[in-house]
Amino acid sequence: MLERIQELRREAEEALASVADASALESFRITYLARKGSVASLFDALRSAPPEERPALGKALNELRSHIQSLFDNKTASLAKGPARQESADLSLPGRHVYRGTRHPVTQVLDEIKGIFVSMGFGIADGPEIEDDEHNFGALNFPPDHPARDMQDTFFISPTTLLRTHTSPVQIRVMRENPPPVRVIMPGKVYRNEAISARSYCLFHQVEGLCVDRGVTFAELKGTLIAFVKRFYGSGTKYRFRPTFFPFTEPSADIYIGCFLCGGKGCRLCKNAGWLEILGCGMVHPNVFRNVGYDPEKYTGYAFGMGIDRIALLRYGIEDIRLFFENDVRFLNQF
Ligand code: DAH
Repeated sequence: MLERIQELRREAEEALASVADASALESFRITYLARKGSVASLFDALRSAPPEERPALGKALNELRSHIQSLFDNKTASLAKGPARQESADLSLPGRHVYRGTRHPVTQVLDEIKGIFVSMGFGIADGPEIEDDEHNFGALNFPPDHPARDMQDTFFISPTTLLRTHTSPVQIRVMRENPPPVRVIMPGKVYRNEAISARSYCLFHQVEGLCVDRGVTFAELKGTLIAFVKRFYGSGTKYRFRPTFFPFTEPSADIYIGCFLCGGKGCRLCKNAGWLEILGCGMVHPNVFRNVGYDPEKYTGYAFGMGIDRIALLRYGIEDIRLFFENDVRFLNQF
């Protein structure tokens, strides 16, 4: 019986070591200390022990009971206190620096552009960066062998799947999903297989715009985009429209603003032209309307597209576009 007492002592110590919460502690109490627990049943067994051994066994049993009871009491107290604290606080330490994120310069420019168009009643839409030939070119009125496709160096994933080269395919998606009227801007990333340099990267950002309704005119295109130019670049900004070609608009134009670096005298930035091209635009081509199931006899609309990385470079005086994509926090923290 003495052996059994020793055994129970070890067993109880081990069991208590793995007790981690109040309910485990309670089942420990029931197993060992309760009226029908293991300790009590050894007291019962004491009665059938030989009389000469009883005093010694009784003493050992009493010790066992108070040992387990005090282990139990200590555990109860330590669970009530919570986890042990190993360190004490050094109240003289300076506070921890809180790192605040900054918005990426491209995001800041984008947010400003969005704000201007949203205030003029435009919604915001987006589309996938992995596109198919049909959305990126076909539905936008690029014929299969049209040289206009050469204007854009496309990353093909398969013969018919590609990384979109512009945000214009989102126009197709928006029009196929929504009947007119439509008035949205569509910001996003675009990809072109260009030689990487300080001035061009394989990835950049555009904001596309589209407005379609009955009776939308070129005058509305001009009014909207001039309002944008004045709000974004300043009310005194000089601007001009020059005719150009895009397969998906007719007529088409590029908007230029007076070079803000040299004030129009001619410099490295404007390549001595005195003007900077800031966006392409035009009246949506009737073939594009047919391709999305809009009736070109009933509806007209204008579209535009602008690159925003260059705007951000100019605005913050950054000389290398690659910095926008390297995500070096020492660069990003400055904005
Ligand atoms: N998608 C053209 C580009 O990437 C930009 C553009 C020009 C978009 C005219 C338009 C537009 O919607 O009407 O160069």
